[in-house]
Formats: sequence, C-alpha cells, structure tokens
Amino acid sequence: MNANLEQIKQEILAGAEELNSSKEVYEFKKKFLDGKTGKIGLLMKEMKNIPNEEKAAYGKGVNELKAWALEFLGGLDEKMKAKELQARYEAEKIDISLPAETTAEGNLHPITLVRNEIIDIFSGMGFEIYEGPEIETDYYNFTALNTPQDHPARDMQDTFYLSPEFLLRTQTSAGQIHVMEKKQPPIKILSPGKVFRSDDDATHSPMFTQMEGLVVDKGITLCDLQGMLDEFVRQIYGEGTKTRLRPSYFPFTEPSVEVDCSCFECGGKGCKLCKGTGWIEILGAGVVNNKVLENCGIDTSVYSGFAFGIGIERTAMLKYGINNIKMLFESDIKVLNQLNDK
Ligand code: PHE
Repeated sequence: MNANLEQIKQEILAGAEELNSSKEVYEFKKKFLDGKTGKIGLLMKEMKNIPNEEKAAYGKGVNELKAWALEFLGGLDEKMKAKELQARYEAEKIDISLPAETTAEGNLHPITLVRNEIIDIFSGMGFEIYEGPEIETDYYNFTALNTPQDHPARDMQDTFYLSPEFLLRTQTSAGQIHVMEKKQPPIKILSPGKVFRSDDDATHSPMFTQMEGLVVDKGITLCDLQGMLDEFVRQIYGEGTKTRLRPSYFPFTEPSVEVDCSCFECGGKGCKLCKGTGWIEILGAGVVNNKVLENCGIDTSVYSGFAFGIGIERTAMLKYGINNIKMLFESDIKVLNQLNDK
C-alpha cells in the first residue's frame, strides 16, 4: 500500500518538472487533490476495502501524502506566480529615455494681462473692484454724470442706443453712479469693463476696455490724484516715469485733466513713440463734479473726490509697441505669442 503512496509522490515530483505556468499548476493540483476525482482523494474512498487492522496506518499515510502535496504544490504555485508577475513587469516597463511629447501651452491675452496688472497696482493702494452692467440706462451713462439730454458733450461719444432709454455703456464712469448710490464715502473703487462706441480706425475699436477709478472722501484734491497716478505709472512703465496734467473737459469732473506720462521709451528726450514730444497721453481724469456727488446724495460740504478712466487697449498698445488696435482682437496666435514673450 505504501508503495502506491510513494508512487503517487514520485508521479507528482516528476510531473511538477514539466509545469510552466500557474494555470498548469492549478490543473495539475486538481488531478491529485480534487476531493472527488483527484488521485489522493480517491485513496480515501479505498478505506472501506482496507482490512481493519491496517486502516489506521493507511489513513495516516494518505493524510501525510495529502499534506505534503498541498504544501509542495502550493509552494510551486507561489513561485510560478512570482515569475509571471516579474515577466509582466518587464513587458510593461516604461522607457523613460523617450523624448516627451511637447504640449501646447496657453497664456493670458495681453488685455487680460494689462487689466490684471492695473488691478494689482491699485489693489495695493486699497482699491476695491466693482463691475457694472454693460447695458445701461441713459441716466447712468449720461444724465447722472452731468450730461443731460442735448448736452454738447454727448457728441464726444458716438453711442449705440438699444432704445430711447437703454444703451451700450460708452464709459465705465457709469459705474461711479451705481457705487455712490449704494455706498456713502469713504469710497475707493476700481471698475474694469467693456465699453462701446461707434468708432473704428487703427487706434479705435467699437468695443474696447476701460478701467475706472473713483475715490471719494474728506479733503480729496487733485494732488491726491496726481500722487496716486505717479505711483501707477512708476509701477506699470518703470522707475523714473512721471506724470503731467493738462487741462481738459469732461462734464462729470471739474477741473478735468488729460494725464500724460514721460515717454518710457526715450525717457523724455523725444522719439517716434512720443512723436518727439517726450510725453505720452495715457488717461482722462479730474475732480468729481459736485453736481455728480449731489445726484448721488453725497454731501459736498463734507466730501470731495477724484476719478480717472484708463483705456486698457491703449495701455497694452503702448506697453507692447502695437500700432494697430485690431491686432488685439484678431487673436492671431503668432502675434499673441510674441506679445507674451515681452
Ligand atoms: N469716461 C471718460 C472717457 O471715457 C474718462 C474719464 C473717467 C474722465 C473719469 C474723467 C474721469 O473718456
């Protein structure tokens, strides 16, 4: 009987030599250890034919063979699986010496860059952002800004009317009224946004972007305006850039000024950019007209203010040396990439 057990053991040992995968090990294991059909399983069923006095030794022998086979084939299975895993790792290995695929990198549009830069500078001085609506009523865009119907200053801005009452705002100055209606001084806001005028040439576009600034508090004068703008031009155009105020006219400011900065290209000596004058016009501004403050219920015996309006396209054109405003709207990737390299 023992000879039979020994024969099965030899059969397992010899058969194991031929096995090449964990799947084969599994099938091979079944052949011997399956409870019903496996060779070792069948040995147990033989028990009834074994003479009583041999039963105990026989049972022990079969159990030992079974335990041995389980351990031996289990170990073989583990080894086989480890080998297979290793082979998979090797097959799936990533070649890190391959050159990486280049990915196209996006960047911000020059208008957005300049807008963000201006916001950064003024928020450093304590300004908050207010964004008003692009569709305005005649009242906010003109009347409340001391430009009633038939006022000649309305001709300064060719307006797109949507109806006798509604229009596309021609200036972010309309936002001043919204802010002052809602809030009593101190007020210190910056209002960026799109504005619209029926105007179209190399330096004008029917849609462009402005940045309005408004400060209202006790004792605000034109000096405060110039001090703040000096700091602004120094940060945006470089150390040493100065401002100059020239008299101008806007119905909502009194006095009104046109602000120039010393030419950052030639330092004021005169060049092509500043047309030989040494100065470049950058924005309109002034002391807020008392009539405007009164329209918003602000006590002019206590408060005064200044306002300014910066053209963002114009600032971007000066900064990047662009001579046609259309380049900012055509979205030619080659041009935009060059502007971002600066
Ligand atoms: N709103 C004026 C314009 O669009 C600019 C401006 C703003 C002037 C604030 C004075 C004060 O031309």
